[in-house]
Amino acid sequence: MAVRIGFIGCGGMAQAHMRSLASVKEAKMVAFCDVDSTRAESTAAQFGGAAYVNHGKMLKEAEIDAVYVCVTPHAHGSLEVDSVRAGKHLFVEKPVNINNEQSRKVLTEIEKAGVINSVGYHWRYLSATDEALKVLKDREIAMVIGYWMGGMPGVAWWRRLEQSGGQFVEQCTHIFDLARYLAGDVKSVSAYTALRALREIPNLNVPDVGTAALEFKSGAIGTISTTCILSQGFEVGLRVFAKDLMLHIDGARLTITTPARTEVFNPTNNPTLAEDQIFVNAVRSRDPAKIRCTYEDGAKSLAVTLAAMKSASNGRPILL
Ligand SMILES: NC(=O)c1ccc[n+]([C@@H]2O[C@H](COP(=O)([O-])OP(=O)(O)OC[C@H]3O[C@@H](n4cnc5c(N)ncnc54)[C@H](O)[C@@H]3O)[C@@H](O)[C@H]2O)c1
Repeated sequence: MAVRIGFIGCGGMAQAHMRSLASVKEAKMVAFCDVDSTRAESTAAQFGGAAYVNHGKMLKEAEIDAVYVCVTPHAHGSLEVDSVRAGKHLFVEKPVNINNEQSRKVLTEIEKAGVINSVGYHWRYLSATDEALKVLKDREIAMVIGYWMGGMPGVAWWRRLEQSGGQFVEQCTHIFDLARYLAGDVKSVSAYTALRALREIPNLNVPDVGTAALEFKSGAIGTISTTCILSQGFEVGLRVFAKDLMLHIDGARLTITTPARTEVFNPTNNPTLAEDQIFVNAVRSRDPAKIRCTYEDGAKSLAVTLAAMKSASNGRPILL
């Protein structure tokens, strides 16, 4: 039987999952909830299913096995708790929250309920990441350098710290998470942020540049920097250094440089489709082994980015 899915939040990223789930034959989208009723209704009409404006009503009435939570970052928390208490398996878009206390509460409920759970850190599912993992097996990472250099997303909530958490937490979180996936857990973070170029944008209180220095538990070190002041496209990636080896995941492409040669691996998969297919398979089989980012792991990436924001505001390194 197909896994019956309900969405909470039907905006831009939810639509990306809906398009990919439409091609997953083991999945059936049946319910669409958004506080914006027009959006809920138009999405239900587009994919077929029932529209809701209240997630509690959807959880009570709709016959669903799993919930995709794709809401604005500050809206997370009770949506996940209610879904899990109703016995639904859970896919959550990153960042899982903008508050560590709330993410810990959700994690406790997930553990109590024992539901399958996954977080939308799709960089973990890139074919480039698969290759990088192969090359890094048995190698000791010395240092990483990550960057997310681009423009400001068009959605109004992104400009408000109390809604998005800022660029480290909302957007550059992919790079922090990828660094953790390859180099392991982070021990301490020191960071700076500033508002330098976008002061004239109305209603904006997020920094527009930021840089964080990381110490990993392994002893490796790294830096991750971010900006949203550009309008000429994005440069997003992570460089990983080991002895006589440099890996560069640049968008979805991987370049491996050694003293002997340079090899380029172009992308061979759609990582959003991969994470959706794997989540659906995990729900069907009740086997989470292939899920690459559990809620617990996603909450750890959140904690690193929140630590960077805290360090930038109080001027001290933060131990995790
Ligand atoms: N993985 C990625 O690459 C990627 C890309 C873009 C966005 N995202 C993440 O996806 C999430 C959503 O971003 P988006 O771009 O789709 O934003 P969006 O503003 O387009 O959509 C968010 C939707 O959530 C709805 N919503 C808010 N609170 C709700 C609630 N309590 N119940 C029901 N609906 C509610 C809003 O009305 C809106 O329609 C964010 O966490 C963002 O960080 C991930």
